[in-house]
Amino acid sequence: MPKWLKDAVFYEIYPQTFYDTNGDGIGDIKGIEQKLDYVKSLGCNAIWLNPLFDSPFMDAGYDVRDYYKVAERYGTNDDLKHLFETAHEKGIRILLDLVPGHTSDQNEWFLKSKLPEKNEYTNRYIWTDSVWEAPPQYRLLCGITDRDGNYMVNFFSSQPALNYGFNNITHPAWQLPPSHPDCQATVEALKDIMRFWLDMGCDGFRVDMADSLVKGEDGEKPETCKVWKNVRAMLDKDYPEAAIISEWCNPKVSIGAGFHSDFYLDHDTNGYRILFRDKDPKTGECRAVFGKNGKGDITRFLEEYLDDLKCTKGKGYISFITCNHDTPRMTRLFTPEEAKLAYAFVFLMPGVPFLYYGDEIGMSYREGLTSKEGGFSRTGTRTPMQWNNEANCGFSSAPAEKIYLPVDTSEDAVSVEKCENDPDSILNTLRRVIAIRHANADLQSDGDFEVVYAEKNTYPFIFKRGEFLIAVNPTDKEQSAPCDYNGESVFAVGKVCVEKKKITMQPQSLSLIRIQK
Ligand code: NOJ
Repeated sequence: MPKWLKDAVFYEIYPQTFYDTNGDGIGDIKGIEQKLDYVKSLGCNAIWLNPLFDSPFMDAGYDVRDYYKVAERYGTNDDLKHLFETAHEKGIRILLDLVPGHTSDQNEWFLKSKLPEKNEYTNRYIWTDSVWEAPPQYRLLCGITDRDGNYMVNFFSSQPALNYGFNNITHPAWQLPPSHPDCQATVEALKDIMRFWLDMGCDGFRVDMADSLVKGEDGEKPETCKVWKNVRAMLDKDYPEAAIISEWCNPKVSIGAGFHSDFYLDHDTNGYRILFRDKDPKTGECRAVFGKNGKGDITRFLEEYLDDLKCTKGKGYISFITCNHDTPRMTRLFTPEEAKLAYAFVFLMPGVPFLYYGDEIGMSYREGLTSKEGGFSRTGTRTPMQWNNEANCGFSSAPAEKIYLPVDTSEDAVSVEKCENDPDSILNTLRRVIAIRHANADLQSDGDFEVVYAEKNTYPFIFKRGEFLIAVNPTDKEQSAPCDYNGESVFAVGKVCVEKKKITMQPQSLSLIRIQK
């Protein structure tokens, strides 16, 4: 386990829209480098960069054409190497985004795989053995190549699935076992890519759809896990400081497979949704725990989380996110005050937390934008970072019509500049929380987590992390609970008072108390 993860706080950067230095309307690597001090000022000591490899951008870069080359629009491989070096000088680590389950249909491997003549890449992707063979349970694209077969896609139609083989083979004529040399060659190709970027200086990878490799298995996915154990063995041996963090959303399985941390994501009925995004399916009414209407139920979250935490303790982490590039920003459902508490909570939980660019200033989800590069409903979460009130919010000097996605030109658009001057802004609040986290091991990734007060459909929620008590009342009403602890308040949003074995919390408040021994 890389030790640095113990106190890592990540910042996710969507390169397209972070900072444009060459005036072409799209963010670039030099822009990221110029903003490293800003990232550091937040207290973030690690960055996850969304894919910035050569790509036709049918899925914003998750359709990789060349795994070994930075997309021209972002700069060069040398620029990326320079970014690693500069970041390291500033004490910031960088994870790249690894897409192991599929490539672009323009990737050289696929161009060779689709040829009718047998070659080294014939089995690099999953093909049926004849164009007439198209079992409906698989997502196959049919009859569009000269090769006599149909190929499987992993996500969008432009993203053919790489072949790691099948568990429970049902069609032996074309499904290979994971142990087949051609499937093993895919695993080795993946490891080659990882070594290439690690040797250049990256600190590891966020792994896209990490559970999607071997087909024909669900649940514990033992064959997919074998692939990751193989990868982890390579890291432990040759790159012990490199981290891998999975998009799997099943920490019990992914941590066992070798990931150092796994994301809690906005999936149906999962703990993360219950905290921050849950709505009544019939009425649309907010019933997230952090909604101010107080309709949430923390016990629904804890049921899942406590078990996940127990099973992964000492082996790996769970990563909470403020948001990511696939998810509507919390401000779509929450007011800035609700979002502030929710975001602060993310940095008070165990595991490795992630801050999505722009959340620290309360950027909004932009409704009604035309889809860009396969964003669809995700487009509203990917708009340009709002640095200041100058042209294009300081994101780019290009004419407005050349900007990757429209900047927020509304009068009340938030910006870093505006937030800087307000001590209670989300920005400055998060800076304080993150600084306290760094200063106290109890609040870091592997510090303990113990529930103190959590009752069904009731607020506040109180928990303990080592010598700290954390109480949160997201609702718009005063709330109180029995409380046997006393101590010094080290951080608070709103007023909280502990007296006579009772904690009383103002509407929308959060309190971090160092417990008196
Ligand atoms: C998950 C990524 O986060 C998302 O943006 C992408 O579209 C899919 N995986 C496919 O790679």
